[in-house]
Parts: sequence; C-alpha cells; structure tokens
Amino acid sequence: MFKSHTCGELRAAHVGQEVTLAGWVNLRREFGGIIFIVLRDREGLTQVVVDAQTAPAARAVAADVRNEYVIQVRGLVRPRPADQVNPEWPTGAIEVEAREVNILNTAQTPPFYIYEESPVDEALRLRYRYLDLRRKRMQRNLILRHKVVRFIREYLSDHGFIEIETPMLFKSTPEGARDYLVPSRIHPGKFYALPQSPQQLKQLLMVAGFERYYQIARCFRDEDLRGDRQPEFTQLDLEMSFVHRDDVLDMVEGLFTALVPAVTPEKRFRSPFPRLTYAEALARYGTDKPDLRFGMELVDLSNALAGSGFGVFSSALQSGGQIKAIVAPGCADYTRSQLDELTEIVKGQGARGLVTLAFRADGVKGPAVKFLTEEELTAIAAHTGAQTGDLVCIVAAAPAVVGASLSALRLTFRDRLSLVDPNLMAFGWVLDFPMFEWNAEEQRWDAAHHPFTMPRPNTYAAMMADPAAVLSDAYDLVCNGYEMASGSIRVHDPKIQMDIFRVLGYPEDEARAKFGHMMEAFSYGAPPHGGMAPGIDRLVMLLAGEANIREVIAFPKTAQATDLMADAPSPVSERQLKELHIRLTIPGGGGNL
Ligand code: AMO
Repeated sequence: MFKSHTCGELRAAHVGQEVTLAGWVNLRREFGGIIFIVLRDREGLTQVVVDAQTAPAARAVAADVRNEYVIQVRGLVRPRPADQVNPEWPTGAIEVEAREVNILNTAQTPPFYIYEESPVDEALRLRYRYLDLRRKRMQRNLILRHKVVRFIREYLSDHGFIEIETPMLFKSTPEGARDYLVPSRIHPGKFYALPQSPQQLKQLLMVAGFERYYQIARCFRDEDLRGDRQPEFTQLDLEMSFVHRDDVLDMVEGLFTALVPAVTPEKRFRSPFPRLTYAEALARYGTDKPDLRFGMELVDLSNALAGSGFGVFSSALQSGGQIKAIVAPGCADYTRSQLDELTEIVKGQGARGLVTLAFRADGVKGPAVKFLTEEELTAIAAHTGAQTGDLVCIVAAAPAVVGASLSALRLTFRDRLSLVDPNLMAFGWVLDFPMFEWNAEEQRWDAAHHPFTMPRPNTYAAMMADPAAVLSDAYDLVCNGYEMASGSIRVHDPKIQMDIFRVLGYPEDEARAKFGHMMEAFSYGAPPHGGMAPGIDRLVMLLAGEANIREVIAFPKTAQATDLMADAPSPVSERQLKELHIRLTIPGGGGNL
C-alpha cells in the first residue's frame, strides 16, 4: 500500500508515530521556509508541514507541488501548536511533519475549486464530472447511496428475498414512456428495447416459483426530463408471491422504517406511515403526491358559494367545476407584484385566474371583494378558518385544474414561508388508484399504473361497461411531495388480463404478439403476486437533502439527455450503421466517423 493511514484517521493518540499518507493536494501555502500542505483522501483532510530546516529534500519536492497533485508523504505525527488546533477537523489536533515527499502524479489546474463548496456552473461540473466527484458533497452523496443500497440488500436477504438479474436487452414494456431501442445486427429490421422496468420479468420470476425477488435494477425511459427524472435511473425492484396488498405495504414500510435511522440518524418520520386514498389525496392536497410535512390543506367552498352571483364562481360551478381555497398564514400584506406572481403560477396550471382575499385588520381586501356579499365573505372565513393577517387564495375551475393550481401554490408557500423541517421524511401511502385514465388526445383508455395491475374485486364486474369506475390494487409511497415508490397486486388470471387489454383497446392479436409470453406463462399456474419499486435515486436525493437526482448519480445525463463528459449521444461510423441495416434519413446526420 502507498499509505499506512488515511487522511481522516490521525488523532492526538498517534503523536510520535511515523506514518505514510497518500492523496491529493487540497491546498498548499508557503510561510517563510515552511510549506503547509492540506492532504486529502476519501476519508478526510490532514495538515502536512514541510520544513526546509528538518527536511530540505522534502522541501525541495514540495516546492513543485500544486493543487490536485497526487503525492505521498512520510513523516512524524506531532501535536499542532495550541493556537493552530482546528476543532472543525477530526484530525485538527495534529499535523504531520514531513520527512519525505514523493510526487506520484502531477495535475493541471482544475477548472473549478475542489477544496471549497463554491457554486459552480452545472455544465462545467458535468463536463469534468470526475473532478466534481472529488468534492466533499458528491463524495458524501455517493457514499450515502452505497450505504442505502447495502442496507437494502442485507435487509431483503434477511427477509427471504433472492436477488436475480434480468436482461437489459429485452422487449418493449408498457410503462407508459417511450422506449430506448437497440437495433439487432443478426435480425435485420428488428429491435430490442431497454427495459423501462423489469416488470414482466419479475412477474415471470413469480410464475417460476421464486416467491420473493428483488433487484437493484437499472431502468430506461425516453421521457421529458425534470429534476426528479433521468433517462436511466435505478429502482429497488421487488416482487412477492402469495401476498395481499397490505403484505407488500408492510414489507416496504418495514424496510424504510429500518433503513432511514440506519443511514441518516438525523432524519425523522411518522410511524406508521399515514394512509390516504387517491380520492382523499386529491381532495385534500390537489395531487396524488402530496408533501405531508405541512398542512395548508385545500378547503372546498363549492357548497358555501353555490349561490354566488360572482361570475367566476358561478360559471365554474355550472360547468361541473369546483371552488377551492388555501390559506397562506401571515401573507395578507402581499404586494401587487407578489400576488401577480401567484396568479402566474396558477395560470401555468391551466387556471384562468386567482381570487385572493387579504384578511387585514381593517377588513377583507382584494379585487374580487366587491363581487362578494358580506355573508359569502363570512362563509369563506368560517370554512377556511382565515385569521387577520392571512391571505386566502381561491381557484374556481375544473377539478383537475383546481387541484394542480392549489397544489402548486401550496408548494410555493412551503418554500417562501419555510414551512417544513428539512429533517422530516414525511412518508405516506396513497391507495385505491383508478384503474384507467382517459387519454383525451388519443381518445382511448390508458392503464393508470400498468396493464398488469389487478382491479379491486368489487369494482371489476363493471369494468367493460364503465372503465372510469374501476379502482385498482395499485399503491404509491410518497415522501415530501415526491412519488417515491409505486406498485400493485398483479393480475394472475389470463381472462382478467385479456379483459384489461380489451379496455385498453389492444386487438387480441396485438395483445398476443406483445404479451403472449405473459399470457402463456399465466396459464401454467401463476401464483397470486404483487410488488413494488422504490426509486433509489429519489430516495437518496431526499436522504441527502438534495433537490435534484443528478446530485446522487455518479454520471448523470443533462436535462437534454446528454453526457457532457463523454459527449453522448454521438455519431457512429457508416460501417456500424450498415452492419445494423440502418440508413439515416436526417440530412448530414450521423456516420461521420
Ligand atoms: P413506476 O413507473 O411508477 O413503477 O416507477 C417506480 C418508481 O421509480 C422511480 N422513477 C424514476 N426515477 C428517476 N427517473 C425516472 N425517469 C423515473 N421514473 C420512475 C420513482 C417511481 O415511483 N414496474 C413498476 C413498479 C411495480 O409495479 O412494481 C414501475 O416501474 O421513484
């Protein structure tokens, strides 16, 4: 080994020992004849002192050393002078008096500082990701990720789960996003699809009799990217046989309840996790992934304002809409421009406008006040519980628009008013999802989760007649406003599965071509089964206190799905294309290698 100790290890107890350290030069300063080097490795920082008087050869080498050089230092551990003890460093009581310094490698000047947490343009960080990953924050995040995955593996192994790998080169899977396709050389004109998740394969593993399966599974989806979405991401994919819904929920809740304190002792959460139905989540928070760390629930004013002569309210109700409100505490003094910003937020969600009522000491103020009666204002105050100093925000529109608008406002106030404790992990279950969603653009039903999800038994009978009324045995785990995990009890009866494909509008021959292997497998004794898939990236993001999953992925893609470091995607040679039987139709595209 190049080193006897790590840079995070030495303490007062080591004083007097000769040690060898190796790492990167975090910082180098010179005072008179003495060179101070802060040496860094994965475990921490240690101060090295190179004195011309005691070690002239080492001093000569150290004179050439620059930031990010890789060096090895042999020296003696000694106490730091009392006025130089650094209580912020675990190694702050000592320093290493160098006897010998070896340069193991030189380094160019990095494009940004490694040793301090100054903000750096993200494109630059991604271009030089290997340098960005040297920084403390990224080291901490990836080490946390390792601990999370390690804990999961041990926990699930202890609970009878078997880790099984499934192929990356597979067939298009119906998770709702676009597939990444891989052309086949051997089969001209045919393609593999990278799995959007191992959904079908894990169900087939249940047919195969493994009973409890898990995998730290890479998934690929060609969809619009956001802060919590990457084109390739990682799931903890799991599946269990002979289980009902609550057995899966208990297993996943047990895992998270044990995991969080083990890897992040500072985090807190409510136990047992609260449970909401999908309908309740929409009614109370306007979204199926509510941030449960704070209240500010939606208040339905539709009944209270049913007879209102205010056109905004009456026309919304007449066209089947709702009137709902949230109360922002202490925001009655919002300025015109602050209120305009709120209006822009709800417009972004499809609302025509926002009605704001400021409950001030001298009465209720707002542009809509003149259209409302005294009784209506009193009713609004009574239903919302608004107090002097509060701002009531009301949206009247179709239910989906009201929900999206007030949910977006709720999160805006959360951030502006600092309403949440960053150490809270507010887990919650969302249950009883609808089985199908109407796709107005394509005039057909989509599976709300995926087509292998079991309809709830009491709603299945009416499925063919009224798909909208069918609830499913799908469930989500939400945390702090993110969908953390999703799963369902699966269909194991080929007849029900065929009915579902029928509602989704797959002609029988297409269903057989796409999913024949599943239908066939189910005819060979498929056990009742169900499972779930927590997103590892989102989980680690929340545990690490980051706002973007790129911060917990070693080599992520940009929002444009590119890799700035390796420059991917990139053109390939004519020869490669030819082998794959591919001719490009875009002018001048590809094939320039
Ligand atoms: P679903 O599609 O809901 O379910 O995905 C499960 C979880 O995976 C995470 N996730 C993502 N994370 C980062 N980037 C993405 N693009 C992305 N998409 C999804 C989320 C999500 O909750 N096969 C089913 C699971 C099952 O039924 O067992 C599935 O994949 O955290």
